[in-house]
Amino acid sequence: MKITSSTKLLAVIGDPVKHSFSPLMQNAAVRALGLDLCYVAFHVRPESVGAALNGMRALNIMGMNVTVPHKEAVIPFLDEISDEAARVGAVNTIHHIEGRLIGYNTDVYGILTSLKETAGLAPLPPTVAVLGASGAARGVVYGLGTRPEVERILIYNRTPEKAESLAREMSPWTHARLESYPLAETELVAGLRSSQLLINTTSVGMHPRVDESPVGDGAALHPDLVVYDIVFNPLETKLIRQAQAVGAKGVGGIEMLVYQGAKSFEIWTGIYPPVEVMKAALPRR
Ligand code: ATR
Repeated sequence: MKITSSTKLLAVIGDPVKHSFSPLMQNAAVRALGLDLCYVAFHVRPESVGAALNGMRALNIMGMNVTVPHKEAVIPFLDEISDEAARVGAVNTIHHIEGRLIGYNTDVYGILTSLKETAGLAPLPPTVAVLGASGAARGVVYGLGTRPEVERILIYNRTPEKAESLAREMSPWTHARLESYPLAETELVAGLRSSQLLINTTSVGMHPRVDESPVGDGAALHPDLVVYDIVFNPLETKLIRQAQAVGAKGVGGIEMLVYQGAKSFEIWTGIYPPVEVMKAALPRR
């Protein structure tokens, strides 16, 4: 990669950001395509989000990814956002074009494409259980809800009121029936019996709490489930091991990251990048 005075800049902003895999995989795509771009990470604290976006305008930074916890906070500083980002309430991609900052949400594309390509679910099953009701769950529930084959989405959350409000907020955008439940053993046993896919969007099991699982001892899991964990740090979570132990298919979330990044890259450059190159740039463990 040769950086010159005409090299255009791409970046990710987050807090923290130093563990982000995006620079590795995005620069791998840049190199593979021989483009004059460079992708870096900026640690931006919550009080500096507006300043960071003004900096993006001033320095003519071409594109940004936005990660936790800024995906909602950037919205007031943008000139325009896509319908999808508006409905999810989160922007993870900003395109700076003709002096305007336009926000998109490629997490929705990331989860749907990973369910198809990584988990082999095409079409999706009729009944899907989602654990969690925070920002990540919003994108997942919205994405599932756009698919005609999905008939029921069961949302489980430790704080059940949040699951209820997520179901209420997403219901205008889907024909699927959205149901909300407390994240409790008895509820899970009953709900998972009629589900074919379980998606964990909670942070339970993420480093350093690697010995925890959002489904407790896993008694509610069964062999006919596909279990998708959006947690990818560690690559294999306790939930995935529990799924495999009962004969279910367990799938980690790292490729969701790749596909959301590929879509962002396409928004910035007009080129859909080689995803195999991006996957190969990620750590193996
Ligand atoms: P955020 O700031 O985005 O809410 P978080 O605190 O890590 O991030 O929580 C993300 C999701 O994981 C939420 O659905 C949260 O449940 P609550 O809404 O009840 O807080 C869920 N979560 C986090 N820790 C959990 C735990 N120990 N058990 C069950 N759910 C948990």
